[in-house]
Amino acid sequence: MQPTIIKAQALDNSNKAVIISKADDLSQLSLNSNELAYIQGKLDADKKLITLNQLSNFLFIVLSDKDGNDELESLRKKGNSIFKTLKGEDLNTVSVLDLKGCTQSTLALAEGIALSAYSFNYKTEGKEKEFALTEVTVQSEVITEDQITELNHIVDSVYITRDLVNTPVDRLNATDIADFMVAQGQKDGFTTEVLNKTKIEALKFGGLLGVNKGSIDPPTFTIMEWKPENAKNTKPYVLVGKGVVFDTGGINLKTPPGSLDTMKCDMGGAASVIGTMAAIAKNKLPIHIIGLVPATDNRPGENAIVPGDILTMHNGLTVEVLNTDAEGRLIMADAISYANKYEPELVIDLATLTGSAVMAIGEYGTVGMGTASDATFAQLEADGYATHERVVRFPFWSDYDELIKSDIADIKNLGSREGGSITAGKFLAKFTNYPWIHLDIAGPSFHLKKSSYRGKGGSGVGVRLLYQFFKGLSK
Ligand code: BES
Ligand code: ZN
Ligand code: ZN
Repeated sequence: MQPTIIKAQALDNSNKAVIISKADDLSQLSLNSNELAYIQGKLDADKKLITLNQLSNFLFIVLSDKDGNDELESLRKKGNSIFKTLKGEDLNTVSVLDLKGCTQSTLALAEGIALSAYSFNYKTEGKEKEFALTEVTVQSEVITEDQITELNHIVDSVYITRDLVNTPVDRLNATDIADFMVAQGQKDGFTTEVLNKTKIEALKFGGLLGVNKGSIDPPTFTIMEWKPENAKNTKPYVLVGKGVVFDTGGINLKTPPGSLDTMKCDMGGAASVIGTMAAIAKNKLPIHIIGLVPATDNRPGENAIVPGDILTMHNGLTVEVLNTDAEGRLIMADAISYANKYEPELVIDLATLTGSAVMAIGEYGTVGMGTASDATFAQLEADGYATHERVVRFPFWSDYDELIKSDIADIKNLGSREGGSITAGKFLAKFTNYPWIHLDIAGPSFHLKKSSYRGKGGSGVGVRLLYQFFKGLSK
């Protein structure tokens, strides 16, 4: 369960976290001389987070390092440290005090604490003893109720994305994820339409149907739409998310030991699109936005596609399949082609698309590329830094087009080993006819080891980034 963030005065004996920039700020905290001496000692030792046990409660003193190049991120991470202490001491609530009217810093600290409180497991034993942070109180003269509500909705949406990514395929197949979107739409007020296999066949989604051939579960294609009357844009924005609910590699079965273990995460793009739609609808952003999710598992079933097969895609292009593990681009291409019918202002797709993106920059950022304007990329990159869901723009030179040429079809689904994330992007570009950004989130979508407030497993990457980006566009 997500902790509730509320705006309220902190009670006397509640656990408190305060952000200070210099020792003088401590005068507002009515500390006794022993406490002040203790804190001064820590400040002299250059400590940035000081934990004071005041017996009836804990007091966390957070030094904001203004000279650090990412103050908000350092506050989110300190929120994670505070959470760890609360958990260790079995304390279920904390108040964040905004002494100086610093909206962004205070919200970042609260966000770091709230995002750290996520947990996910199927354990049946010891459930009742499991720690839960139930409430984060924000005391502030400047932060509004609306800002607190917005933060609650964002954290809620990140949790939704993480839950989806962490749920294994035996509990989340293509039909389940479509059902989930319908239920989420009913909660948050966006509409949904689920296309079943018959409709997918009628639309000639050769990529999605091809990947699905090895599966005993039918594919789904889900359309989410948020269209408020006060929408600022006339042409819609479209999000597309890769929904490979499990990627075995297909007949080109993934081989290195362990490489299959985390492949439930291969619907991370879909999960981020769902979380972003939820965040936008919950906060009622005045924009018209559509989310598309093609979903299937990728398995080496009896009738599975094999290398050499030729697929005819939704837009009529023929694709030579040379590696069945390059399945993401096949299902994404149909959805990206389908997006043309909306005459979109901008399309952003999110996909755990290539190991090559992970090789290039690791789990620390998202690989971006595409055909949108430099200004649009610059805005997304800036929002990436603000939310610490960083995007690094890769080259998209026409030279790479050579690498996906096929001898017998229009294109092939396999590029070179070198620049593999770019050739995957180039493949998708063949299906676009609009300004477009491709985000390869294979690195940051799923963390093998705990990564501060992002946690272990599904991180929810993309939701905070895209919410911020579209909020900007809605102004
Ligand atoms: N789902 C994988 C990419 C991936 C790798 C996601 C690591 C998350 C973590 C994708 O379908 C894939 O297998 N890509 C291949 C493509 C190759 C065969 C051209 C890859 O990147 O190795
Ligand atoms: Zn694959
Ligand atoms: Zn995949």
